[in-house]
Formats: sequence, C-alpha cells, structure tokens
Amino acid sequence: MDSKKPYPEPVANSLPPPSCCSGRRRLRYLLLPFLFLMALAWARWPAHQIHLQEYLQVSTQAPVVATTTGVVPAAEKKVQVEAHIMSKCPDARDCLRDLVIPAMESISTKVNFTLSFIGKTTDHDDGVACMHGQSECLGNIIELCTANLYPDPKIYLGFTMCLFKSYSNIPKQELVEDCALEHGVDFSKVNECMSKDDGAFGMGMLRSSVERSAAANVTKSCTVRVQENIWCIRDGGEWKECDGGSSPKDLVKEVEKLYKDKE
Ligand SMILES: *[C@@H]1O[C@H](CO)[C@@H](O)[C@H](O)[C@H]1NC(C)=O
Ligand SMILES: *[C@@H]1O[C@H](CO)[C@@H](O)[C@H](O)[C@H]1NC(C)=O
Repeated sequence: MDSKKPYPEPVANSLPPPSCCSGRRRLRYLLLPFLFLMALAWARWPAHQIHLQEYLQVSTQAPVVATTTGVVPAAEKKVQVEAHIMSKCPDARDCLRDLVIPAMESISTKVNFTLSFIGKTTDHDDGVACMHGQSECLGNIIELCTANLYPDPKIYLGFTMCLFKSYSNIPKQELVEDCALEHGVDFSKVNECMSKDDGAFGMGMLRSSVERSAAANVTKSCTVRVQENIWCIRDGGEWKECDGGSSPKDLVKEVEKLYKDKE
C-alpha cells in the first residue's frame, strides 16, 4: 500500500457554501470514523506528538460542581439557553454573531448555555455524519473539545465565532491555531482532546451532542432554544419562528424575565 498517496480533499471544500442549513437540501453525508481518521492526517494534526498526560485524565471527568446540602446551587436558578449549530453553516455564523453572542454579553451570569450540534449518528460504526462533510464533523469536535476544556461560554463562543469567520477553512490547523491564540485557548490541549483515544473521545462527545439535538427534534442550523422551547431559527439567510423577536435585546429581555420568575 502506497502510504504517500495524497489524502483526498474533503468534498465540502470544493463546493460553494450552502445557502441554508436545514434538511431541505440533499445531504451529502460522509461516513465516519474511517474518514475522520483520514481527515485527521489530512489536516496534519500532529497526532504523533501526543503525550498521555495527567492533564487530560483530569479534564475528561465531568466538571465537579460543589453542592452543599441546604444551599441551592446558583446554577439551578439559571435559565437554559441552547444553540444548535453546524460548524460550517453560514446561518449558524449569522445566528451566533447577530443574536447569541451579543445577547450573552449581558446575560451570561444568568444563563446555563449549551452549544449543541446537528448531524446524523451512523449505527454501524458508532460515528456521525455531517451535512457539510467530514471536515464539518471535525470542526464540530474542535468546538466541543474547546467547550469541554474551557466551560466559560465567553471563551468557547468567541473561539467558535472566530472559526465561523473563515468556516470554509475548517479544520485547517492554521485557522484553529490563530483562533486559539486570539481567545486564550491552548491549541495543544485542543489537539490532545482531538487525538484522545484515537479520536473516539471527541467522536463520543459529538454523538452525544447530535443525539441531544435529535431528541429535541431540532433539525435546522441554527436553532436557539430557551428553557427547551424554540426561541428563534436562522435558516436560509432568514429568521424564522421568532415570535418573541430575533434581536439580542429581545432574547435578553426574555432571559431576564425568566430569571426573575425563578427567584
Ligand atoms: C445545564 O445544561 C446542561 C445541558 O445542556 C444540563 O445537563 C445541566 O444539568 C444544566 N445545569 C444546570 C445547573 O441547570
Ligand atoms: C419529537 O417528535 C416526535 C414525533 O413527532 C414526538 O413524539 C416527540 O414528542 C417530539 N419530542 C419533542 C421533545 O418535542
């Protein structure tokens, strides 16, 4: 077998950006995790440089939340806000840039924010197929790894938004490194997360995330939900089902109101 044979370019990179990110277009699903491993090599992630270090063993544990009996953890009062996205979807970029991030700037302390991904689980290989190809699945995993390592939404949303600005270049290492630097993310830790268990760790996170979106019947990127109800959808370059308003101040107002009601 000729190991020098170049890896094929992901199909998604040679096609124009999709105009929308809902199920109406015929989906170009590519199979994982075989292609996932190929893409890892293609993106030249220095997987061979991994050292299995204590750091990851610690970080993969669920975050420990100090709960003292009798004291209601502040987090329980928080309003659940969730954005369901695909890492190479222009609607998701617009949605984070024009709604989610500006709103979060004023309500982050009152919100339990979750960034979830939309895709399809593949039964036969424990993988995930993504609408814009395997490079999107990799982008999703990069963003999930960053959220896992830096649970503060300010950091991982900023990092994710930075990737969105050049989403056609996802998952090129140069882009990921630049965005990591810009947002105080340690690229080597993201890299370790990507490579952990030969990629199975990241794929497991992506599967859970995709299953979470599917369980909520969410199919459109981007869908913003508040307390599990659809708040607003960005699809095909338009806002849809945004009865409460699609501007950041509308979302801020709703969250402030719900937060008050919890007191
Ligand atoms: C925050 O949201 C996640 C789901 O995204 C949930 O698992 C977790 O329990 C929530 N935390 C609190 C304190 O509500
Ligand atoms: C999702 O859709 C199915 C079938 O339409 C329905 O039975 C289920 O209750 C829905 N789940 C949610 C969370 O809306």
